[in-house]
Amino acid sequence: MRDFAKEIEERKQAGLYRTRRLIAGPQQPTLTADGRSLLSFCSNDYLGLASHGENMRALEQALPEVGLGGAASHLVCGHHEAHHRLEQRLAAFTRRSSALFFSTGYMANMGVISALAGRGDTIFSDRLNHASIIDGCILSRARVRRYAHGDVAALEAMLSATSGHKLVVTDGVFSMDGDIAPLTELARVCKAHDALLVVDDAHGIGVLGPQGRGSVLEAGLCQEDVPVLIGTLGKGVGTSGAFVAGSDVLIDYLVQKARTYIYTTAMPPALAAATCASLDAVESGDERRAHLDALIQQFRAGAQDLGYELMSSRTPIQPIMIGNNWTALALSRALEDEGLLVTAIRPPTVPEGEARLRVTLSAAHTEADVDRLLQALAKSRSILSEAVAREPAL
Ligand SMILES: Cc1ncc(COP(=O)(O)O)c(C=O)c1O
Repeated sequence: MRDFAKEIEERKQAGLYRTRRLIAGPQQPTLTADGRSLLSFCSNDYLGLASHGENMRALEQALPEVGLGGAASHLVCGHHEAHHRLEQRLAAFTRRSSALFFSTGYMANMGVISALAGRGDTIFSDRLNHASIIDGCILSRARVRRYAHGDVAALEAMLSATSGHKLVVTDGVFSMDGDIAPLTELARVCKAHDALLVVDDAHGIGVLGPQGRGSVLEAGLCQEDVPVLIGTLGKGVGTSGAFVAGSDVLIDYLVQKARTYIYTTAMPPALAAATCASLDAVESGDERRAHLDALIQQFRAGAQDLGYELMSSRTPIQPIMIGNNWTALALSRALEDEGLLVTAIRPPTVPEGEARLRVTLSAAHTEADVDRLLQALAKSRSILSEAVAREPAL
């Protein structure tokens, strides 16, 4: 039998052991984590809608009307009119013909990719795609070819050398680097090589594009350019769940084929109602987005002045590149001593030797919050020059 305890110990020795923090109270920049009040810079609640009063009221109002549980899968008797309204709302929001509501982004990627490609087909996947895309590719049993991050020329060479059904899949905004996929170019090569383009805009929805409609609409790409658009609802939209949007035929096909949609209990319908309210807040959220952009600029200028290495990201995902696992942990801990919560991200979430602090900004932060983060980073700067070979007390 495998020695699980030994494997855990090996993770500890390598600086890869993970723990969970116990959060109390609502999700907002100032959090109670393990009983301590900390200013958090690591949530994906980019617009500050996770604890938004109107969304919570929408949930309360819906509950007595629709009840709590989903009770059954959508194809049995779980498909509630609240889900249907949300799907219509999501289709309009993304300027697509139809949409399908999934329980999580992870399930959406698994279900959509494995429904749209199978044995004998080829999937081309950006090397830095999210774990749920990677797992969806594995589940599909298609041949998977990874292309260098954002390298459209490399992808095009692979596409021209491949025949049969081809699917190209990419994050819209890369979850650990914060950069945006070259969507216009990807759409062009996919059209030229008859490949189906799937974009997972988990981190673009709510944040980028006109009225927060995401990176695909920001790039001016329509349904024909990006036929399969996936988005999550637990990040910028502030609630929970995910969706895929596209043509009527695509959505009908996924209802028949996407196993993670078919064989699971429908989400609580009241949550769908609350998500509709949250989409209203997203659409009318230009002020939030402008404030968020200002915070991103403030953070980037301040952190670069301090000599920290950032990535070329204009999104709320602003990783501070460290490299060594222990150094990343030491910096995260030093910030925590200053009352700040910024998680260290280590392999396998990021490539070996690319540990980082994944700073994320939210419209719910203030300028003073970002100043506080920069002051703490100034105070902890020396950690980067001290070689942290091993964490003494984990
Ligand atoms: C690019 C990307 N896709 C999908 C997911 C999964 O979404 P969810 O958290 O809704 O399962 C995430 C994040 O966690 C992500 O970063």
